[in-house]
Amino acid sequence: MAASVHQCAEDTSGVSSLSHVAIIMDGNGRWATKNGKSRSLGHKKGAEAVREAIEGALDCGVKCLTLYAFSSENWNRPVEEVTDLMALLKLYLQREVKTVHKQGVRLRVIGRRDRLSADIVKMIDKAEKRTEANTRMTLVIALSYGSRDEIIEAAKAFAVSVAEGKEDPSQLDEEKFSKGLWTNDIPDPDLIIRTSGEQRLSNFLLWQAAYAEFLFLDLLWPDFSKMDFRAAVDNYLGRNRRFGARP
Ligand code: FPP
Repeated sequence: MAASVHQCAEDTSGVSSLSHVAIIMDGNGRWATKNGKSRSLGHKKGAEAVREAIEGALDCGVKCLTLYAFSSENWNRPVEEVTDLMALLKLYLQREVKTVHKQGVRLRVIGRRDRLSADIVKMIDKAEKRTEANTRMTLVIALSYGSRDEIIEAAKAFAVSVAEGKEDPSQLDEEKFSKGLWTNDIPDPDLIIRTSGEQRLSNFLLWQAAYAEFLFLDLLWPDFSKMDFRAAVDNYLGRNRRFGARP
């Protein structure tokens, strides 16, 4: 039986616990079209929904929330849209870090920093440092992130260690390989939510999603609210996870 919304905060420390929720925030463009607005405004509304997701996660006692903000493939969008999204992320880092810090949230950013502008990288470094002692929840923003990229980087780093005689290939196991990923000290997601009705992973946490539960929502990301977060948690808590074992 699904837990009620009211139970959500308490249940997260129990057997059916939910530690890490990851979200593919999709549908900003379609929301804009549907409402006769610019794509730029769709993304701005999407940034407002980020606040809702964080509050929903905090209300539910989730320990880690990962948001897919910009994929490695998103660099292929028209230059004006990329510029717009980067400006929005900058604004977010300028305005929201203070709020999340006050909420006891630690901020982490995963993805390729070498494609980001120097000022954004500096802001990320500063925000990560400022919030590093916070323990209530970790907010992971996947930015310029691609899971295949991440896996290749980990494989290359391991190959270099082997060439230097520091690692033995026969000793490579899942745990060791995971440590080479950008998510090295972040637990695997328990639940991955994607909005907009699309049902795919789009190069997001491919390795880490091995045993994740999936929830595909028909609503567009700018319409996502903290109540939707709670409903998603309720849905998850009603599932039976067996991790490949017998019931
Ligand atoms: C997908 O919608 C969304 C994105 C590519 C960007 C996500 C960014 C935000 C929600 C705002 C900024 C984020 C933070 C963390 C401040 P889409 O444009 O692909 O929508 P469509 O598929 O309907 O066109």
